[in-house]
Amino acid sequence: MIEIAVKAGAAHKQRNDAVVLPMFEGRKLAGAAAQLVREIREVKGYLRKFDHLGTFGRMGVLYDVPGMHTPRLLFAGAGEERRFDLHALRRLAARAARWLQESGARDAALYLTDVPLRGTTLAERVQAVAEGVWLGLYRFDKYQGRKQEQKRPLRAVTIMIPSRRDLAVAEQAVTRARAVAQGTYFARDLANEPGNVCTPEYLAEQAAALADDRLRVTVMDKKAIEQAGFTALLAVNQGSDKEPRFIVLEYRGADEDEAPVALVGKGLTFDAGGISLKPAAQMDEMKFDMCGAAAVLGTFRAARELALPVNLLGVIASTENLPGGSAYKPGDVVRTYKGLTVEVQNTDAEGRLILADALAYAAERKPAEIIDLATLTGACVIALGSQASGLLGNEERLLRALRKAGERTHDRVWPLPLFDEYQEQLKSKIADLRNIGGREAGTITAACFLSRFVDDIPWAHLDIAGTAWNMKGSELAHPGATGAGVRVLVEYLRMRAEP
Ligand code: BES
Ligand code: MN
Ligand code: ZN
Repeated sequence: MIEIAVKAGAAHKQRNDAVVLPMFEGRKLAGAAAQLVREIREVKGYLRKFDHLGTFGRMGVLYDVPGMHTPRLLFAGAGEERRFDLHALRRLAARAARWLQESGARDAALYLTDVPLRGTTLAERVQAVAEGVWLGLYRFDKYQGRKQEQKRPLRAVTIMIPSRRDLAVAEQAVTRARAVAQGTYFARDLANEPGNVCTPEYLAEQAAALADDRLRVTVMDKKAIEQAGFTALLAVNQGSDKEPRFIVLEYRGADEDEAPVALVGKGLTFDAGGISLKPAAQMDEMKFDMCGAAAVLGTFRAARELALPVNLLGVIASTENLPGGSAYKPGDVVRTYKGLTVEVQNTDAEGRLILADALAYAAERKPAEIIDLATLTGACVIALGSQASGLLGNEERLLRALRKAGERTHDRVWPLPLFDEYQEQLKSKIADLRNIGGREAGTITAACFLSRFVDDIPWAHLDIAGTAWNMKGSELAHPGATGAGVRVLVEYLRMRAEP
């Protein structure tokens, strides 16, 4: 990650390789930009000839403006002023950072925090800018020999704030953004690794490497999993030559006797569907079926970095789902860790099986609440697309708080109902339940299945199937894994710790 610092000072005095100012539609300037025009008269004349009017994302640059100490004065189009919000600011920072990366500038001063954004604090604006810069610059290019490498890469940016008095507040906001970005980078890196590298064993090693005196990590191998009785995980693992892993993380940020928040992640390092084999098209993307696990690990990393005053219990079940001579089959009846039996009608509905064991284990530890993350259903991609993760659960307060955290971070989550009547779809003629609920309401019936394993503990389920990766890429994410879940969870935990 590049360096980000904060500083106060006038734009015309900065000696960075570039100075960035926002320009709203109609060439409207605010804050530091308006001040600069008063300070350096020439700029006004140049701007009049500018063909760019402030459309969102358009970049206009003036070189070697007399009276300025920077060689590049960049006007970043911020769009309509009255539609500008915190997420537009995050996006704008990402766009500017990517432009700078291409420009040859090694460092830059960003004047993006004194924009007219009613109802936001300086800290929120600084955090949004820092997140935008870091998330926008993320790349996964370790396997490209001839990297599209910059000869003069961007090394550092300085986020400029209006007053020196706010430096401490702004620095704290950057610290927060750094932790979130590190957690997100970690989640993206893990998920972008191909399936031949990121195996259950590799995932467990990466988790174990997070351990320190506040964070204990326990990894169970196949033998330990057999002894513990995670039989549904073992059933899914049958078709794979690679051993499964069951990973438990314990972060101590609060009193020992305070019940933890449990974070549970689906860690399918590759989901071919098993005997109910998936179609070939885009099957490669099923290396991302461990994004729930990656989000849990990214959140632990950020929580530890921020020393969040909460206790956390992390539970990750990890395996591949492959067809093979020993693979579990449609029609098989599988016993779960909790003791409930499941008639397998489709081996591709494997996520709920391994989560059944992970959730039951988490519930047994009596956490204050459980939040699970999983790329669980294709139906969720149909329902919500890539703009929001599905949100289901058994407690309004928890669901509301997660929605709020999602809105704030723009790592958005959206509710679907969990009416009792949907449970009917999971009835089996020969076992306690079956693992698919038919064509209707696929995301909901998957969550219904999970609900059987959490007892009465407050629980929320995030279906991140549509949000966890994006092959087209976006302003905040390079094509590939997005790290969905990390931002909303870190914000939720922070809000919970200091309401
Ligand atoms: N990992 C998939 C869900 C998925 C599919 C996520 C496509 C993202 C994109 C999951 O294990 C799965 O295969 N679910 C099935 C369930 C069905 C058999 C009831 C699905 O959604 O098709
Ligand atoms: Mn599947
Ligand atoms: Zn899956």
